Amino acid sequence: CGIVGYVGPRPSQDILIAGLARLEYRGYDSAGIAVIDGEGHLGMRKKAGKLNALRDSLADAPLGDGTTGIGHTRWATHGGPTDVNAHPHLADGGKLAVIHNGIIENFAALREELLADGVEFLSETDTEVAAALLGREYATSGNLQDAFQRVVNRLEGAFTLLAMHQDHPGLVVGARRNSPLVIGLGEGENFLGSDVAAFVEHTRKALAIGQDQIVSITPSDVTVTDFEGNPVQAEPFEVSWDAAAAEKGGWSSFMAKEVAEQPEAVANTIRGRVRDGAVVIPELDGLDELFIGINRVIITACGTASYAALVGKYAIEQWARVATDVELAHEFRYRDPVIGDDTLVISISQSGETMDTLMAVKYARERGARTLSICNTQGATIPRESDAVVYTHAGPEVAVASTKAFSAQITALLLLGLHMGRVRSTLTDTTAVEELSTLPEKIAQVLAEENEHVSQLAGWMADTRSVLFLGRHVGYPIALEGALKLKEISYIHAEGFAAGELKHGPIALIEPGQPVFVIVPSPRHSALIHSKVVSNIQEIRARGARVIVVAEEGDAAVLPFADEVIRIPLAGAMFEPVLAVVPLQIFAMALATAKGLDVDQPRNLAKSVTVE
Ligand code: G6P
Repeated sequence: CGIVGYVGPRPSQDILIAGLARLEYRGYDSAGIAVIDGEGHLGMRKKAGKLNALRDSLADAPLGDGTTGIGHTRWATHGGPTDVNAHPHLADGGKLAVIHNGIIENFAALREELLADGVEFLSETDTEVAAALLGREYATSGNLQDAFQRVVNRLEGAFTLLAMHQDHPGLVVGARRNSPLVIGLGEGENFLGSDVAAFVEHTRKALAIGQDQIVSITPSDVTVTDFEGNPVQAEPFEVSWDAAAAEKGGWSSFMAKEVAEQPEAVANTIRGRVRDGAVVIPELDGLDELFIGINRVIITACGTASYAALVGKYAIEQWARVATDVELAHEFRYRDPVIGDDTLVISISQSGETMDTLMAVKYARERGARTLSICNTQGATIPRESDAVVYTHAGPEVAVASTKAFSAQITALLLLGLHMGRVRSTLTDTTAVEELSTLPEKIAQVLAEENEHVSQLAGWMADTRSVLFLGRHVGYPIALEGALKLKEISYIHAEGFAAGELKHGPIALIEPGQPVFVIVPSPRHSALIHSKVVSNIQEIRARGARVIVVAEEGDAAVLPFADEVIRIPLAGAMFEPVLAVVPLQIFAMALATAKGLDVDQPRNLAKSVTVE
């Protein structure tokens, strides 16, 4: 869910809606705002559906020019995406408004307690329970901050909670436990947001709030305390990008823009991290001991980031010679993994807020492991919970389906593998640094040369019901990612397989006309791997598959068996994935567009899933 709060001299309604528009990628099942107007009256409006439904309703009947407000865009957990279940939720006879992100785990018990007290509930949400609890506590003292502090101490689970009361215009209170919340510092106005996108058009000065902390903002003041009310120092930071970076510009979608931005994103990931012909990551200066004396690396992540992680496994094993495994974050802590202080747990998260990944990091730390995160969002929680962080600097990614963050994550893993290899004195690859520097222009070349071809192909395939993707070695994670992109935005059944695994089962799926993408590794790196993949192509071709090959320029061995050939420039073995994924992103995007779907906001998904 996305959360925004405002106090200041300006009418808040438009500020809240603009903030929600920038946070909409966090959830778009429903949206709502509450505003306290000049007369000290709290008005609220909420609507199921995307933000536009709320916008239309406010255009017909604005909430007025109140200068204190909170807003929410929802990804449903408790209760379906209806008007009633949307946030804000009100209490104290409509004078108090609450919005929430996360899951309150003890909500059923609290609900019972409040029902017994005679409270009536309108919705099925855990949030309304928190609102009612706050209403009851407020009634006893009339002090919003005290009441809020008592309430957050009674809640279990994960939450970001914001509240305001019409008796206290000019005050918004918030709290966080394991869910994101940052403060934006303006001139005579202050903001709260799930992330800086909520307020970056007004200010780039921000404060990061730690776990289990409470914040109060007024137009002139910001106070942060722990859950006991003791003052704490919040960490100031400056947002490195401006609002324009999170705008669509002239592009048809954020996804189209972000796919096109990949050369720049990857260049930004590399920038400042090559010194005297070697990879040296400045953020890891003085942290060599993180990489020495370890005997195991576990990379943990979810979704697209977990496929970047798989590429990282190959790179770290090859360059840093340490056993590396990849594990989905939501599986990792639910077994009894063998980890300790000789284990480095690397987490990867674009948002830095994915709850599954955050919990894996915390678990790893509790078990004594060393932790390093790869993240794209400054001030996010996962880097704050890790011993070290390598930022990808890909700029804000707004489309739900990840593209530039993925190529930047792989790039960061390549950098990290090279950095670790140097620190551990295991690195023998002498061409890698040069390969790195040419990567951005090679991505640009794929975009320039294959965009039209691949889009056309997708247009022809708009009625396809199923697409398979095959890859071997580092092409395997790319096959998985190609399939995920297609599932996410075009709702077509798609599967990625390790090419060698095909004959052990999935080959039964092949029937005449079945489209299969095959990522073919360069024969220059390994004639053996290449020849095996070409054999796999022949096996599916013999069974009538329609074969679409992604292969490097000049690879003629694939020609006799391919219906379509998509070309990528020559690159080092570890660098090919960043190039091979680009046509698959374009394919998914063009196919979804051909089906008339919203590529930026696919159904049922949210970009940053802050519940487990
Ligand atoms: C969600 C998104 C995916 C994303 C995953 C991990 O499931 O829908 O697109 O890959 O989270 O997100 P993160 O921010 O941790 O990289």
